[in-house]
Amino acid sequence: MNTSSNTPWPLPFWIAHRGAGKLAPENTLAAFRLGATHGYRAFECDVKLSSDGVPFLLHDSSLRRTSTGSGLASAQSWSELSRLDAGSWHSRAHAGEPLASLEAVAHFVQANRFGLNLELKPTPGQERLTGQVVGREVLRLWQGQGQGQALLPLFSSFEPVALEGARKTAPGVPRGLLLDSPRESWLDEAQSLGCVAVITNYRLMDAARVQAIHAAGMKALVYTANDESVVAWLRANGVDGIITDAVDRFVPDH
Ligand code: G3P
Ligand code: MG
Repeated sequence: MNTSSNTPWPLPFWIAHRGAGKLAPENTLAAFRLGATHGYRAFECDVKLSSDGVPFLLHDSSLRRTSTGSGLASAQSWSELSRLDAGSWHSRAHAGEPLASLEAVAHFVQANRFGLNLELKPTPGQERLTGQVVGREVLRLWQGQGQGQALLPLFSSFEPVALEGARKTAPGVPRGLLLDSPRESWLDEAQSLGCVAVITNYRLMDAARVQAIHAAGMKALVYTANDESVVAWLRANGVDGIITDAVDRFVPDH
């Protein structure tokens, strides 16, 4: 597989947050499908590990908010997790929607040639392990893909250690550092992790930061921009990609 430095940039400008933001149950395949019906060709989602090491999509450490389960998701096996309803909390229309395994997501995005931003969202204490296992699993699932066929995912994380773990097992899969609040070392951290992108809270991005990121040879992306004036301002300042919940309001133009 390619190294990060010569792997093509895998994402278009518009990226649907957690599948399709808030219009369908976040981080499920139903959300990906809804985002696709709005013209989105790339998706951000949050990945963590079951107790038996299966990568699957869930934002929170706890199951409570977005499924019929409760307690720490990392304490339950995939066989237990895969029986939960991850849709009825959102709406009756989505009752019975299962949690999505990374394997199912891989099949969906590869079949449709969609881009994928895999946010490593480790259960606290599992940062390195999550990066390593997801890295290994991405290599297995995307084996034989790439090079003009299906694109590799972009890994991202707020946790540098998770990105280190992914770099260890999947050095050729590109990485982006997520930044929610300013810290002095952010650019050095991104460079020393071999990142190809820095993805900030949109409130942190301005022209100077875009320039610093570009000068370091990386892409500048933001999350989660849902407002038209904010999006216009970000585009004017040269950002390379926007992660949004508002898939019904922003028509992806590239
Ligand atoms: O990956 C960008 C964004 O998803 C980070 O925030 O909390 O929605 O995962 P969060
Ligand atoms: Mg996320």
